[in-house]
Amino acid sequence: MKTLLVHYTPRNERSNTKQLVDAFRSGIKNSEIEELNLSQDVPDLFLEENLAAYIQRNYLGQDLTPRQKKSIAKMDRMTEQLKSADVVVVAYPMYNFSMPASVKAWFDSVMLKGQTWDVRDGKYVGLMKDKKALVLVASGGFYGKEPMMSWEHALSLGKAEFQFMGYSDVRGVLAEGMNAGDENKLAVLKKTVGEVQKISQEWYQRK
Ligand SMILES: Cc1cc2nc3c(=O)[nH]c(=O)nc-3n(C[C@H](O)[C@H](O)[C@H](O)COP(=O)(O)O)c2cc1C
Repeated sequence: MKTLLVHYTPRNERSNTKQLVDAFRSGIKNSEIEELNLSQDVPDLFLEENLAAYIQRNYLGQDLTPRQKKSIAKMDRMTEQLKSADVVVVAYPMYNFSMPASVKAWFDSVMLKGQTWDVRDGKYVGLMKDKKALVLVASGGFYGKEPMMSWEHALSLGKAEFQFMGYSDVRGVLAEGMNAGDENKLAVLKKTVGEVQKISQEWYQRK
């Protein structure tokens, strides 16, 4: 059994998001743990050369030159790492109502056709069956009700990406209102850390 912790918490010890990751990590039992720090090991963006290589190989089934293979090697490495894990946790703050660019680049890197999803009989199919995914997000504001609810694209997008890849159990926890005063922050962190601990207890209790 393998657990992959993917995190983008560039504020390190000051990070609210990090508290959620630490809460999950402390509940892991009988599992190898691998970590990917997206503020140090930054995924590639799709640019001219690697996008052409991706389409040529994954959509058209054509061979790549060594140079083309190299252009897409980091994406392949991150995809293999994700495929090797039974449980994946992705943790990041909300930036501008969505996920930080490094996290989006990671999703773009691992959502490779023929690897984590595919098209079969004209339908999209997720290939990551019987696996679990948890998305952990901290935000400065509140998104529990309208009008702000429809501005929330951080947690909702992360969960949608895992659902698209076919994960059978996709959960999410949002620590909201981190910039709405210390009292609120402490109360929300206490509650959400408890929610995260509950999920890790549930996922590892019989392993
Ligand atoms: C560049 C940047 C953009 C942000 N954008 C938003 C935003 O759109 N909505 C929001 O509610 N909070 C926003 N925040 C606040 C963070 O989500 C919040 O402070 C969070 O706790 C930061 O996570 P961290 O403590 O793990 O660093 C932003 C913070 C930064 C630094």
